[in-house]
Parts: sequence; structure tokens; C-alpha cells
Amino acid sequence: MVLPRVDSTNDYLKQQLAKVEPVPEGTVIMAEEQYAGRGQADNVWVADAGKNLTCSILLNPSFITPEKQFILNKAVSTGINDALYKIIGSDLKIKWPNDIYVKNKKIGGVLIENIISGYAIKHTIVGIGINVNQAHFPTDLKNVTSMLQILHKNYSITELLKDFCKAIENRYVQARNGMMEQIDEAYLRNLYGLHEELTFDVGGNKVRGTIVGVTARGLLEVNINGGRRSFANKEIAFVM
Ligand code: BTN
Repeated sequence: MVLPRVDSTNDYLKQQLAKVEPVPEGTVIMAEEQYAGRGQADNVWVADAGKNLTCSILLNPSFITPEKQFILNKAVSTGINDALYKIIGSDLKIKWPNDIYVKNKKIGGVLIENIISGYAIKHTIVGIGINVNQAHFPTDLKNVTSMLQILHKNYSITELLKDFCKAIENRYVQARNGMMEQIDEAYLRNLYGLHEELTFDVGGNKVRGTIVGVTARGLLEVNINGGRRSFANKEIAFVM
């Protein structure tokens, strides 16, 4: 379904789930414009109307327990990577946990919201924002880019959405069939900064470290001063 204007496609899908009528798995809501788009960590997601891909997909991954929910982040980000790689090539990276980068600039992001019931994930709302045909960004948005800025041409947002849905579905089916090695391999192969020495902010201190992996629970593993440490999303930031 394509909505001309909505607060947030994630919130719209959540409201649909609260209604009596069941919402089928695989439902996709796309918006031409979001006026209250949300990003990770309570950030806002700003995208010019009609120029970018903003959508949410409903999954019902009852085969994944809440402790293993990072599987979904990996399946979704590798799916997006699969689809975009065909257009952008090897400059495309997944920046932990699930940002989509081209070189050192963010081209898209994913907001995964799980609705947990007992020991299972009942619903997952996969919110995807990709900067497509936007030529300019507000000056306070640092390190941001779009497909137009990189490739100097416009892309059909509905065609991109179709490609993303297919690619994410393929990765989701792999996850459901227990083929995690394939997903893990693709996630790590495309991970921004893997095995590179980078600067991080850890608790307000700048430290040099090398990303060596991501744990099954989604913690970033970094070698710092010869010791391996694991960090949750709020505990470490990349210094770009
Ligand atoms: C991030 O990188 O912080 C995640 C951004 C996710 C943005 C998308 S746009 C469609 C969906 N609806 C929202 O309100 N957010 C997600």
C-alpha cells in the first residue's frame, strides 16, 4: 500500500496491528511523505517528500526467540545490501548494527521494532529509509548521501522497493530455514570497518580499535589495546 502522507510507516503498521482485522505477514506500507519519521535511538528520520524510499514491512518471525532477535537485523541489512550492491557495488557497506553506508556516508537506515509475546517474537516491523533522489540535505545532517548524489541519476522508488522486498524475503527465508552461515558470512563480508583500525567514542573517550566481529546477540567486538571487548549500541560510537 502506498500512502501519500503519514506520520511514520512503522507507526501506521503498528496501528493496523492493533485493529481487529488481521494484517498478513509480508504487508508493505510505503509513504511518499512522512512527517514524523523515526530513526534509531529516538532520532528523527528526515526525508524530502516524493524523493526517497520510506517503507515498513511486517514479519511474523515466531521461529526466532527474543534473545536471537539480532538475526532479523542481519537478515534485513544483508537483504538491502544484496539489492543495492547490484547498483552501487563494493563501496556499499553495512555499518553496525544496520546502517547502510556508501564509503563514509550514510545512504539509509533500518528501524526494527519487535512485538514480543512470551518466548517468541510475534511481529516485527521492519522500517526502511533509503535516500534515493534527494539532491541536497540539511546542513546539520552530517555524512549523509543519496543514490542521486553518488550515481548522478534518478531511480524509480517503486522498482527499488520491489527489489528490496525480494532480497529481504530471500534472506528471511534463509533465516527461517536455519541457514545462518550464509547470512553471517554476507553480513561480515560487507561490514563497514571490519579488521580496520578506527577511532571510537567509548564513554566519552576517544579510543583506537579494530572491529573483529559481531556476537550472536549483536554486540560489536572490538580489539582495543590487545584485548577484545564487546559493546552494545549505546556503549560505543564511530568517530567519523
Ligand atoms: C536509522 O538509521 O536511524 C533508521 C531509520 C529508519 C527510517 C525508516 S523510514 C520508514 C520507517 N518509518 C519510520 O518512521 N522510520 C523507518
